[in-house]
Amino acid sequence: MPTDAKRPLQLNDLGQLRHFLSLDGLSRELLTEILDTADSFLEVGARAVKKVPLLRGKTVCNVFFENSTRTRTTFELAAQRLSADVISLNVSTSSTSKGETLTDTLRNLEAMAADMFVVRHSDSGAAHFIAEHVSPNVAVINGGDGRHGHPTQGMLDMLTIRRHKGSFENLSVAIVGDILHSRVARSDMLALKTLGCPDIRVIAPRTLLPVGLEEQYGVKVFTDANEGLKDVDVVIMLRLQRERMAGGLLPSEGEFFKLYGLTQKRLQLAKPDAIVMHPGPINRGVEIDSAVADGEQSVILNQVTYGIAIRMAVLSMAMSGQNAQRQLEQEDAQ
Ligand code: CP
Repeated sequence: MPTDAKRPLQLNDLGQLRHFLSLDGLSRELLTEILDTADSFLEVGARAVKKVPLLRGKTVCNVFFENSTRTRTTFELAAQRLSADVISLNVSTSSTSKGETLTDTLRNLEAMAADMFVVRHSDSGAAHFIAEHVSPNVAVINGGDGRHGHPTQGMLDMLTIRRHKGSFENLSVAIVGDILHSRVARSDMLALKTLGCPDIRVIAPRTLLPVGLEEQYGVKVFTDANEGLKDVDVVIMLRLQRERMAGGLLPSEGEFFKLYGLTQKRLQLAKPDAIVMHPGPINRGVEIDSAVADGEQSVILNQVTYGIAIRMAVLSMAMSGQNAQRQLEQEDAQ
């Protein structure tokens, strides 16, 4: 089969996933397939023996150049539940601190016959760069790159919404907080748009809003939280990403909480059955009140559970796409 020179890097010649780098350009059918596959894996997590043999004999390497609690551990669990061998490189104690480049670190891991890399990096585009430079049969999964994207977080957020609200049609979803520095906001907006959500609202102070959001993502922008939260079905709160702020974007955390923090009173503006989501880590009393984070409408910990199933889906689909591509190329060579 001839290779399409314009084929996106993350798809094989059959249009299946072979890497998972970004939600940009992925079809509704493919996103729905990821959600359906993850749904089937949720049942595995409820079994006494939480294992299926889909990645038996494969090696998954977690390489996190930025701190993580949820993404790293749920990728580890996902790979283990698929029966893969899993290595998690602690970059702070690796030879990166002795000046080894990203490419050299990954080449060494490739020499250990790694089949998949899950990568988190502070540079936007790092996962794409790695996918372009590793051997063609190695799958690369983006665990968050700079401000660019966090596609598995986007998909676990979509699974959470679908499981609690049924579908994306007729839904109003509000994303609230530090949109400017948030890779989660970008992935969520792309996924919601692709899956057909008709009312995506973004709520933030002007200083924490990128320019051109309305045109780029087809969202409605609000600077008044009380106006933006009216009658929404889903509220996604975001953390203030202090580590990515150059400074001076906010008067104070107290002022931010007063105007944008999700309190019980403010949540009452949303629909009575609205759900509250947050990718974590949460900063209590900064963007969300403890009573809301731990309250009945919160599905924050469900998101973490669904994250394992989404990561199982993405790992197994990318491996399957790599295998299919290898088979096509072998047939072509004969
Ligand atoms: N949501 C998320 O990416 O959390 P971690 O930074 O803990 O992985």
